[in-house]
Amino acid sequence: MEIINRRQRMASLARKLRREHKVIGFVPTMGALHKGHLKLVQNARQMSDIVIVSIFVNPTQFNESDDFETYPRDLTADAALLAEYNVDYVFTPDAKDIYGENFSTYVTVDDLSEKLEGASRPGHFRGVATVVTILFNTIRPDFGYFGQKDAQQVAIIKRLTQNLGFETEIIVVPIVREKSGLAMSSRNELLTSEQREAASIIYKSLLEVEIATEKGVRNTTKLAEIVRNEIETEPLANIDYIAVVDNKTLDPIEKIGENPVLVAVAARFGEIRLIDNIVLNKKQ
Ligand code: PAF
Repeated sequence: MEIINRRQRMASLARKLRREHKVIGFVPTMGALHKGHLKLVQNARQMSDIVIVSIFVNPTQFNESDDFETYPRDLTADAALLAEYNVDYVFTPDAKDIYGENFSTYVTVDDLSEKLEGASRPGHFRGVATVVTILFNTIRPDFGYFGQKDAQQVAIIKRLTQNLGFETEIIVVPIVREKSGLAMSSRNELLTSEQREAASIIYKSLLEVEIATEKGVRNTTKLAEIVRNEIETEPLANIDYIAVVDNKTLDPIEKIGENPVLVAVAARFGEIRLIDNIVLNKKQ
């Protein structure tokens, strides 16, 4: 495994790999790797000749409430894990290399970026869309791997890939969960053991909603109520939002019809804000 720091070197290496007709799988991350990231890497390993993982704590996607400075960074531990998973290249550029002098070009995926998470994290998705565009332009991978846990990020990346004509196929990898059902996240480490246990209520509520749709409930107000009622049985949980929306456009819908539907939840346990989701009515 080779660690590459410079964007130019990454670009020329990727160019050479493409000339050799290698299939390139790319996993963008901000480090602090957990089992969710490793699942993305495993998928990339199965589908590609060459696996590239980027580790870049992207300053433009942090807003006031997020803390860029204190975001966990441990390149040595991350690199050791990635070597175990047979990654070929780790791309670790610094911010100056990604956002050079006079940087003033941003990518905004209008509309999708303002909804759900966008409401409480202004500018976040502009930062994500911009950095992913820069990384895709540098590597031009065949496949890009993203976790379903960040469902809105997935919708945004799919839209930008299509709109900007990237040839990268976006592979969405299912949520990896702890034994309790809690979705894997670096934020879980910040929960007390009591909060961590309590937080499994989110997944329980999503399972309730899945059962309800299987039984024929189609009305989305009713479905959101089922999620709310379940989460409210847990005194440590504070709901931020429950959204039942079209999985592609993230527009609210009244009734489940033909298309896949995303049920997304954000809830706080003490200071820690967690998100999770389930997709209903998935096309097989
Ligand atoms: O999901 C993340 O870790 C980040 O948003 C990403 C896609 C690596 C962009 O910085």
